[in-house]
Amino acid sequence: MAEVAKKGLEGIVVAESKTSLVNGSEGKLVYEGYPIETLAENASFEEVAFLLWNERLPNKAELENLRSTIATEATLPAELIAQLKSYPVKADPMAMLRTAVSASAMYDKDSEDNSVEANRRKAIRLTGQITTICAAWDRIRNGKEPIAPRKDLTLAQNFIYMLSGDEPDATASEAIDVYLVLLAEHGMNASTFASRVTVATGSDMHSGIVSGIGTLKGPSHGGANAEAMNMFLEIAEPENVEPWFKKNIKEGDRRIMGIGHRIYKALDPRAAILEEKAKALAESSGNEKWFQIAKKLADAARADSYFIERKLFPNVDYYSAIVLYTIHLDVDMFTPLFAMARVVGWSAHIIEQFANNRLIRPDVNYVGPMGLQWTPVDQR
Ligand SMILES: CC(C)(COP(=O)(O)OP(=O)(O)OC[C@H]1O[C@@H](n2cnc3c(N)ncnc32)[C@H](O)[C@@H]1OP(=O)(O)O)[C@@H](O)C(=O)NCCC(=O)NCCS
Repeated sequence: MAEVAKKGLEGIVVAESKTSLVNGSEGKLVYEGYPIETLAENASFEEVAFLLWNERLPNKAELENLRSTIATEATLPAELIAQLKSYPVKADPMAMLRTAVSASAMYDKDSEDNSVEANRRKAIRLTGQITTICAAWDRIRNGKEPIAPRKDLTLAQNFIYMLSGDEPDATASEAIDVYLVLLAEHGMNASTFASRVTVATGSDMHSGIVSGIGTLKGPSHGGANAEAMNMFLEIAEPENVEPWFKKNIKEGDRRIMGIGHRIYKALDPRAAILEEKAKALAESSGNEKWFQIAKKLADAARADSYFIERKLFPNVDYYSAIVLYTIHLDVDMFTPLFAMARVVGWSAHIIEQFANNRLIRPDVNYVGPMGLQWTPVDQR
């Protein structure tokens, strides 16, 4: 008798991993032994990248070395910049990123080398290059020349610099840095699983990262941050929250984007941190409307028996949408920013997969017909 299929693979354990622990019932997230709250308060994104790739924190020299190597490796080959300029300006930025990262493999001398040394080099290069691709694309689609990364900046600062050409604003780069720390890694999420499945066939890191980007794009995963912001923009004013909730959620069949999670049945700890950041940024920017809408909608959901019974809380994408919007990022760049962070987690998992690999190949229950008679095409 065949086993019953587990829809969405819920609860199925597919690997042993040292990268992160996601405790859904208590709302806890730990990277390599460090609680996310500690990392959000103290660590830079580069420090977290070192931690996830090396299973320990860097010393000062190692951290500076990683920061400057990422900044150096962030430079794109001229051929890739020429390609970006040939893409349709209306292209979805995640479709652009998926294509550009795939193309970048063909200019990478390490692309077919699956040794651990080459994979570490590629993890660093991809982390730098994905940021440059995102910033370059935003300029190209707005009719501007892309700006090369600076060797003296952190990844978050370089992103702001390459977007605007100006000296990076401290508030915006700090907000991006903490966002990147919070989004760098998250257990066996859908895109990480896709990356691991891809490389488990003996394919290469770029292919694994491309699978990750394609998977992250969906609104049930990384696409939710942009969808959440579009929802707040649709609501438009705090006084519209209640009628909008009644019409679209209670009487309609829509979902609140940025709420609910497969693993978290308590508050996502990243959402708690981002709520505070979003509130502080809203107050300091003098534009509190979007935060007020988000807060009011979250409160309406938290008071509603449907959401209470199903244990649906804001996830990481909910308040991050407000943070990113407040620092004036275009909404369709939110998910690429998620990829800028998650490339670190994907690459850490890819290295882990290669270290103890076996082809990932689950089974399926065939429920189709049997024993059909063949009818020639001209008799059908
Ligand atoms: C994240 C998500 C895909 C998890 O999906 P899942 O674990 O497969 O859970 P399900 O889709 O089976 O949802 C379970 C129940 O909660 C409801 N639900 C889940 N998220 C909901 C939301 N955001 N708004 C309203 N209802 C929601 C479902 O309708 C379902 O109700 P039912 O049991 O009566 O059918 C889902 O919560 C969602 O779509 N959230 C919005 C998108 C989002 O924020 N994604 C980013 C995740 S980090």
